[in-house]
Amino acid sequence: MALYPQSFIDEVRTAADIVLVVQDTVPLRRAGTTYKGLCPFHGEKTPSFTVNRERGFFHCFGCGVGGDVFKFVELRDKVGFGEAVRTLAQRFGLTVPAPEGRRDPTREAEREALLRAHEMAAAWFKQHLRAEAGARAAAMLAARDIAPDTVEALGLGYAPASRDALVRHLIKGGIARPLVVRSGLGLEREGGEVIDRFRNRLMIPICRESGIVVAFGGRAMADDQQPKYLNSPETPIYTKGRTLYGLNLSRQAIRERNTAVVVEGYFDFAQAWQGGVRHLVATCGTALTPAQAQTLRRFARNVVLSFDADSAGSGAAAKSSTLLVEEGFDVAVAVLPGGDDPDTFVRREGGDAYAKAVEEAIPYLDFLLERTAREHDLAKPAGRRAFVEQMLAVAAKIPEATARDQFADRLAHRARISEEVIRHEIRRAAVAKRTSLPGQAQLGRSLRPAERHLLAALLNAPADALPALAGLDDEDLEGLASARVLREARELPLSAADSLPGALFERLSEEEVRALTALAAGQEVPAAPAECARALRILRYQRERADVQRALDRLQEQPSADAVEVDALLQRKSELQVRIEALNA
Ligand code: UTP
Ligand code: MN
Repeated sequence: MALYPQSFIDEVRTAADIVLVVQDTVPLRRAGTTYKGLCPFHGEKTPSFTVNRERGFFHCFGCGVGGDVFKFVELRDKVGFGEAVRTLAQRFGLTVPAPEGRRDPTREAEREALLRAHEMAAAWFKQHLRAEAGARAAAMLAARDIAPDTVEALGLGYAPASRDALVRHLIKGGIARPLVVRSGLGLEREGGEVIDRFRNRLMIPICRESGIVVAFGGRAMADDQQPKYLNSPETPIYTKGRTLYGLNLSRQAIRERNTAVVVEGYFDFAQAWQGGVRHLVATCGTALTPAQAQTLRRFARNVVLSFDADSAGSGAAAKSSTLLVEEGFDVAVAVLPGGDDPDTFVRREGGDAYAKAVEEAIPYLDFLLERTAREHDLAKPAGRRAFVEQMLAVAAKIPEATARDQFADRLAHRARISEEVIRHEIRRAAVAKRTSLPGQAQLGRSLRPAERHLLAALLNAPADALPALAGLDDEDLEGLASARVLREARELPLSAADSLPGALFERLSEEEVRALTALAAGQEVPAAPAECARALRILRYQRERADVQRALDRLQEQPSADAVEVDALLQRKSELQVRIEALNA
């Protein structure tokens, strides 16, 4: 049990959908809110084995066996807890932390202390919201129609207008002064004095999926207090571009609906949540990052963007939409009346009206098609061409062929051009779009998005990239344009994370270094390396499946084909299929 940090175990538990895990070996049927099947742990002919997805439990009414997802894997595979954690982490594409011996114990201890500091701070802020000093903050919440239940659910609090009360509280609670500074909760002044970062602010805890507090947003109490929101800095436990506000509360609802509503602000989240729309997250005012999109992908295929009416389709919204399309989401845009954000809309019109607006969201690609069409004179050939070219660039980013073809047809219809021509153009644009590391013979071939992200992460987030790489084997890398570079990186010890990129560059050619640097510079925020590694593993199984299929085709052409061999290949093919589906789930 002590092998992995609790936060990692929580993360695995969150990611590991028990229904999917059980279904790997036991066919299940849905029966109301639970799933039923034949118990794998005792012989039976009528199903008394039930699985509850929401609660993450299984139970057999026949033989009495039951437990959580870890317990299921322990029993199924006849392994211990640690092994079950590893199996599930791999199944759901999470990077397993290095075993105890290889982990850096000081860094580990620091993280634990930072988490504890946040836990203490969250409790302290809550307490101050209820105290006399928090009366104005409580009144502000009431004036914004935030009910006590919501305050409780979101864990809201208040940072009093004191110079260093929290810092003293944390130090008294056993957090060393340098760690108080490292946590971002304290600010070091010249001369070494440490004071509270958050003073006289309404405090909103920002959590990991598991609900552990890792950062805070602090809302100003008055309009002349700047900035309006003061947020925690990035720390060893908090990376802004990887965190989605509210996911800890909403992931179940998101998974159930296979849809995530994405809003911008903390209060947009709070009001929508309170109004009954619970499958949502907030981006906290910035465009979505690839890492955030990939996190969402674990829970849903569909996204409804619900931004300020005035910003829908522009700026951050457009950037987020493009990224989401690239990541294979079905994206829709919920349009609110001018001047509204979800917060003001829900307060005026109610939660049901907001749910309806979300329900009636317009598919993003249609939204974009119409908006762009209006910007061109489609009566003229030049206008049509400009319109089509702009839309082709968008189409090239749609990863799925069917979705791309559908878009092609709508585009053809709108521009009154033949579907055949458009589809052909789109295919060409899609091929051209695959990026390559520039000016380099071995690396010159086209890179898969997962490779590209993983390479960029090597330079931008090596502490995450190295463990993800360590999970890949030679066969995963085989045939990739970046195989050589990735293999070299994989040879590095995990402790090399601190000496990257130098340690890697030593092993590469000048051209490779140049190509890699150029590529990393072009990536704003690295995608989650674990997700990239998973994508590469899927690609490898797909390659293998294609090989098996070719062998099968060849065999079946021969009248004297060996049935045993055919069977073996078919079996292998279905094994690969299962693995691919498991990784895709
Ligand atoms: P908005 O400026 O739209 O604010 O920023 P809001 O959410 O409507 O805030 P209220 O209703 O006036 O309280 C959207 C989000 O951008 C982030 C916050 O997460 C905010 O909720 N933001 C905004 C910051 O982080 N810092 C800022 O100074 C402003
Ligand atoms: Mn607002």
